[in-house]
Amino acid sequence: MKIVVVGPGALGCLLAASIKNRTREDVWLFDNMPERAKKISENGIKVEGVSGQFTARVNTASSAKDIGVCDLVILCVKSYSTEEACRDIKELVGTSTSVLTLQNGIGNVQIMNDQFGAEKVMAGVTNHGATLLGIGHVRHAGKADTTIGRADGRVLGAIREVANVLSKAGFETKISKDIESVIWSKLIINAGINALTAVTRLNNGALVEYDECRQVMRCAVQEAVRLVKRKRIKLSYDDPIQKVESVCRATASNVSSMLQDVLNRKKTEIDFINGAIVRQAKALAIPTPINEVLTNLVKTIESSYEKQLREK
Ligand code: PAF
Repeated sequence: MKIVVVGPGALGCLLAASIKNRTREDVWLFDNMPERAKKISENGIKVEGVSGQFTARVNTASSAKDIGVCDLVILCVKSYSTEEACRDIKELVGTSTSVLTLQNGIGNVQIMNDQFGAEKVMAGVTNHGATLLGIGHVRHAGKADTTIGRADGRVLGAIREVANVLSKAGFETKISKDIESVIWSKLIINAGINALTAVTRLNNGALVEYDECRQVMRCAVQEAVRLVKRKRIKLSYDDPIQKVESVCRATASNVSSMLQDVLNRKKTEIDFINGAIVRQAKALAIPTPINEVLTNLVKTIESSYEKQLREK
């Protein structure tokens, strides 16, 4: 299979390197920044952490024309870049290409459906922890489950092949017939953890060590669950608060993706996580004050470092 991972962030680098290292597939990394792509091409992707230490040499390109049509595209860009990335990678997608999103947040599937047609789109979530240490250098912080599926619930040959390749690469992957449930189940975990880590600057595990913080987390999760119930989406776990707290403990030493963004003074995915919950809840007249405060605080942090950069 010719596989293109789009986005050289923590998960993108980890996936591209793991598939290259553990399978015989033809692996490419698409990075829209030519200088960075060149550096990764010269040095390879360095991985350390729970899957061992290795360097994988993958093909890189910053123009889709240089790669051409492939069998599988895995979208790993930040959710706020999905639209732009879909435009950038048009030439990768042919009649039998599958396009898989493993991004955090909601809204990505709709953008991909609009761009490529729902027939080609697969969605999924992965709970592996990955921290970007530098350009093309990633720490695999923790192994966990990965689930993929199609919005129409059909389990076709193509999705089995994708699950197979990911599993061979060390991302043990299940197929779900209810991917909407899987995406919202992950969204609730991200809504409980990510913004709170960005505001408090704590690692995931520390969030449950402080009663006050734990209380805020519980309220944010309860608000999101009210929305999910109204939308009649079934979560993949029975007790959402217990689930979020158990993810905190299981990924205790993780610096969440949103805290990584804040520490690197980058834009965060807040609009696609807590912000999306606030927007959708508002449309259904469900109050979400805690998610609104978390969204506003993270947006304030983003604006403050943008301002500092302008003043430099
Ligand atoms: O976004 C993240 O960092 C991860 O999805 C999670 C599960 C919160 C672990 O850090």
